[in-house]
Amino acid sequence: MAIKSIGIVGAGQMGNGIAHVLALAKYDVVLNDLTQDSLDAAIARIDKNMERQVKGGKISAAEKSDALARITPSLALRDVAQSDLVIEAATENEGIKQKIFDALLPDLKPDTILTSNTSSISITRLASRTDRPEKFMGFHFMNPVPVMQLVELIRGIATDQDTYKACLEVVEALGKTAASAEDFPAFIVNRILMPMINEAVYTLYEGVGSVQSIDSSMKLGANHPMGPLELADFIGLDTCLAIMNVLHDGLADTKYRPCPLLTKYVEAGWLGRKTQRGFYDYRGETPVPTR
Ligand code: CAA
Repeated sequence: MAIKSIGIVGAGQMGNGIAHVLALAKYDVVLNDLTQDSLDAAIARIDKNMERQVKGGKISAAEKSDALARITPSLALRDVAQSDLVIEAATENEGIKQKIFDALLPDLKPDTILTSNTSSISITRLASRTDRPEKFMGFHFMNPVPVMQLVELIRGIATDQDTYKACLEVVEALGKTAASAEDFPAFIVNRILMPMINEAVYTLYEGVGSVQSIDSSMKLGANHPMGPLELADFIGLDTCLAIMNVLHDGLADTKYRPCPLLTKYVEAGWLGRKTQRGFYDYRGETPVPTR
């Protein structure tokens, strides 16, 4: 089945990036969120990020305006359900994702493929509660979506080959590279990345290094584009904690125990860039370490 229209549920950090790249690849996109403010903010963000690409010579002004015209913001889930492919990109919380799929089911076309951009939750379990586990997959983009080359494709136990092929074709149309991952907690990228970030927080918690020395060490000593604490702030500390909990619960191994300091930051509502404070304080001109 060739995919032409794609519905995205959730217009946040991931959802707006996904809408951005799909629209540039000439898919008709319906972008859904709960409030008009979230939709307005998402469209403004896409406009701004596309403008960076125009300025950098990566796309033309005409490609930008064509792509923006292909995105239809909508507060109605029903509009999303009529698409050939749905990508759920809401908060990393199984209960919320479950409610979204429940609400979508009555309005889906019989052939619609359902996917989740979850970074860690079991695809098989999410799929099992829908009417189409064979047409359900994990479709996991990396942040920032317009820049990152990888998409993880995760088949649940029931996912059929046609569904996988249709999703792979979308990844290829985006000019991105797919990596297939088996459906085990946090798949590949986050299975490796999150324990590293969690270990960086332990390194801070135990006083081995400061925020600055930990980030400099990994940037200059391991050639990472961002230090692990800066990256944690970029991803969102609530998302990092949620993924560590999925690893800890799903694999029942103490090596995945979330660092108490990570929990503390989340309890404080210091979730990283999105709340202007995390391991760095972003409220001034330049980020200042908070420890
Ligand atoms: N949209 C469009 N273009 C963007 C962009 C966006 N959102 N963000 C950055 N860019 C562009 C910039 O315009 C710039 O383009 P030019 O080369 O044409 O100038 C280019 O990307 C580089 O950006 P910057 O110069 O602003 O900054 P940088 O060189 O420091 O790169 C970065 C920024 C790409 C984010 C880099 O720091 C990086 O790769 N960081 C690591 C990101 C990472 O690891 N992401 C994965 C997170 S894990 C995940 O997402 C999975 C999960 O489930 C949690």
